[in-house]
Amino acid sequence: MTKPNPALPRHIALIMDGNGRWARSRGLPRNAGHQSGLKTLRKILRSVHHYGIDCVTVFAFSSENWRRPEQEVSLLMDLLVRGLRKHVSELHQRNVRVRFIGNRARLPNELVAQMQHSEELTCNNTGSCLNVAIDYGGQWDVAQAAAAAAKADPHGHVDAESLSRHLSLAEFPDPDLLIRTGGEKRLSNFLLWQLAYTELYFTDVFWPDFSEQHLLAALRSYAERERRFGQVTEVICDGRDKQPEASGFSVIGSGA
Ligand code: FPP
Repeated sequence: MTKPNPALPRHIALIMDGNGRWARSRGLPRNAGHQSGLKTLRKILRSVHHYGIDCVTVFAFSSENWRRPEQEVSLLMDLLVRGLRKHVSELHQRNVRVRFIGNRARLPNELVAQMQHSEELTCNNTGSCLNVAIDYGGQWDVAQAAAAAAKADPHGHVDAESLSRHLSLAEFPDPDLLIRTGGEKRLSNFLLWQLAYTELYFTDVFWPDFSEQHLLAALRSYAERERRFGQVTEVICDGRDKQPEASGFSVIGSGA
């Protein structure tokens, strides 16, 4: 296994916002924006994997998205089913393990079946991970993890460590970088616990227009940041085996 490049995030969380506005600005129905958003996701996942980033978690449908008009919800569910059906074999060929997080109880049977099929098909893949959040909310995640942690303890005690063991992404490192497109600067109930120390990157670009160049801008911004995790700079520098300038970000240098 190759040593991870410390200048690159190992895990990226993505809020793919702006599909509806992208469509409206072109006089198209909102669903055309979501369809175009799916194409963008496919393209960006290829780039992310090309750079050797291990893990991506995308917000495909939030627990609040049920409040959208019935027709849009139904078209989004269809898009998820069709998108998975069409693209999971490509992900499998690229050795990507696909997982889903969120509450499956309210989802259409056809979608749940397609999610299960995608997980089963890719469960032994070792190259990288794609986590897709569907009917997911960060508050739901913390609440279900707290309940599970209490149930697992003989005295019903819960602390931060036991709770975090029951969160949806417990087996993955927390995201290093969150990218949100579409101009809003909020978390919208995504991975609230897991984003505690994540670097946040917001861009006005609508998700369907998000390109490899935009991804590179986000990765460059990440590489320039100093992650202190509550410590002071001197402590971090003492503990480093390399100088920051030797961090290897030139792998995706400005010419890329
Ligand atoms: C937010 O844009 C986007 C969504 C609610 C849907 C994102 C889903 C995809 C791109 C498809 C993913 C598919 C698979 C198979 C993983 P918005 O509608 O809130 O945009 P707006 O803020 O401009 O209205």
